[in-house]
Amino acid sequence: MIGIMGASGLIGYNLYNFLKKRDKDILGTYFSQKKEGLIKFDLRESNFSLFDKCKYVVIAGGITNLDECFLRKEEAYKINVEKTIELIKYLTDKKIKSIFLSSDQVFDGEKGNYKEEDEPNPINYYGEFKFKVEEFLKKNLKDCLILRLSKTYSKNLEDGGIFADIFLRLKEGEKVKSAYNQVFNPTEVEFVCNGVFESVKMNLKGLYHLAKNKVMSRYDFALSLAEEHGFSKELIKPVDFNTLNLVEKRALNSSLNTKKWYGAVVPLY
Ligand SMILES: NC(=O)c1ccc[n+]([C@@H]2O[C@H](COP(=O)([O-])OP(=O)(O)OC[C@H]3O[C@@H](n4cnc5c(N)ncnc54)[C@H](OP(=O)(O)O)[C@@H]3O)[C@@H](O)[C@H]2O)c1
Repeated sequence: MIGIMGASGLIGYNLYNFLKKRDKDILGTYFSQKKEGLIKFDLRESNFSLFDKCKYVVIAGGITNLDECFLRKEEAYKINVEKTIELIKYLTDKKIKSIFLSSDQVFDGEKGNYKEEDEPNPINYYGEFKFKVEEFLKKNLKDCLILRLSKTYSKNLEDGGIFADIFLRLKEGEKVKSAYNQVFNPTEVEFVCNGVFESVKMNLKGLYHLAKNKVMSRYDFALSLAEEHGFSKELIKPVDFNTLNLVEKRALNSSLNTKKWYGAVVPLY
């Protein structure tokens, strides 16, 4: 059985359905957004025995919004670091492998094209919390798998996120401000689901950057979306990220070098 902690989220729910379609035995959890087939689970309650029958657990749950991590830093630290590590320790004692979904935000975004061996230097709480869990895993577990992801999007508007935000505004004829200096590897969620699945099948261990290898700015992403769906590109306004006045900082060029992961799963990709 494969467990997904956080199966009601963007990645978790797509992964849940991806694995279901492949007739896999899955245990998925939700926290506040009830979805058919999922079991209620709150990391804070340390009720981890529901995962006992799993061979692997994908850790996809927690507070994932960067601004929320800043605004609710103590609670986010407890959930994203303390309780996540407690769950991983519990699973390890039961010989259950954890697959931890980390983020490009562990980097400071000064240089881009980050490789797995580059030293993280998070500039926001979300990235710092991810890095703390990574450090625990690297120090304590030989058998773990850390998959660092870049910005993941879904073309299913019900999933929300960057694609739906831009699509719906362009559809309404609204202007979209997009940063030309925020650079990442936008990756469709199906690619991430397939990538997690292949990584598990190949029994990968260690740290990998799992993302599409095409790097682009948020502005370029919006332009390509407009082009693909026949919306006016005139509606997309390039802006300097630093003028957006967001609550929390973002790594500006957090682009990931994905050669290690592609190398490991060739010839499939
Ligand atoms: N999406 C991206 O672009 C991206 C990029 C890099 C890394 N990641 C990482 O990939 C993972 C999945 O991301 P995502 O975008 O799918 O996140 P998401 O859509 O925000 O989903 C978060 C999940 O965590 C659950 N959750 C929240 N609080 C919880 C708690 N106290 N106990 C147990 N579960 C709780 C949510 O449940 P409810 O919804 O039911 O409340 C939901 O299932 C996260 O670790 C994220 O940091 C994502």
